[in-house]
Amino acid sequence: MLAHALTRLMDAQGAWTRPLGDLVHRFLHWFFHRIPAIRDLLNGRWLGHPLHAVLTDAPIGILFLVIVFDLLHLADAAAWALGIGILAMLGAALAGFADYSDTDGRARERATLHSTLMIVALLAYIVSLVLRLGPSGATESAGAFIVSLIAFLILAAGAFVGGDVVYALGNMVDRHAFRGAGTKWLVLEPAELDATGQIPEGRPIKAKLGINQLVLVRQGAQILALHDVCAHAGGPLNEGKLVDGAIECPWHYSRYRMTNGDVIQGPSVYHQPAYEVRARDGGGWEARRQPA
Ligand code: FES
Repeated sequence: MLAHALTRLMDAQGAWTRPLGDLVHRFLHWFFHRIPAIRDLLNGRWLGHPLHAVLTDAPIGILFLVIVFDLLHLADAAAWALGIGILAMLGAALAGFADYSDTDGRARERATLHSTLMIVALLAYIVSLVLRLGPSGATESAGAFIVSLIAFLILAAGAFVGGDVVYALGNMVDRHAFRGAGTKWLVLEPAELDATGQIPEGRPIKAKLGINQLVLVRQGAQILALHDVCAHAGGPLNEGKLVDGAIECPWHYSRYRMTNGDVIQGPSVYHQPAYEVRARDGGGWEARRQPA
């Protein structure tokens, strides 16, 4: 009941989050795709985990302390916590904007609502900090306390919406989270063969392996294979292009090394499942998931 009401309330914001999200996304996409090394750093590719999710805990914890210190009449401690909390919010926002630059559809709308709430909370916290900083240092102020209390409520609402972007809409979730690593050899069925009955060389080819779809690249006698569904947001890798031994996703340009599925360019922070391929007795090929 409550969940339905909250979802309806969030969805009702689509009239403004959709156009605003598209506008902001256009700029952020343009900006972050010009600095892929920074974007990868902020996405968390080096960590194998979305950095934004790691950084968001710090400001929420620190800014909760502001309320505690205020209630204990520790004005200096509250002002320091507030200053640090604002800096932590800015760090988390940077990582969040990097993720946002490759977010589509409903997740983008919801992320727009999330980031708008967070920016409003941030502005309120800045107002609260200014109110506290009297000429002789941190001073106790009922107005500053009330503003930071309201800011925390907005922050909590923003965190709820942000959680929804991940848990309900699956943004930045590994698309292979629930895929088993079965080691059984299965018959591989390439979607295309050349005139000699071989897998065409040097370009991505779609193939079926049981219930899974793979992307294959043949290099001479060697056949390299990855799962076709991009770990970032499900893009079809067989429609991507080869760049220096890696396959580039056509949706947001993540790159995975064809030999082992390692992610070498974001926004994906997850490796792609890789497969071993061998010739079958009697013709054709078979494949199985590479051990981790
Ligand atoms: S779906 Fe986003 S990079 Fe592939």
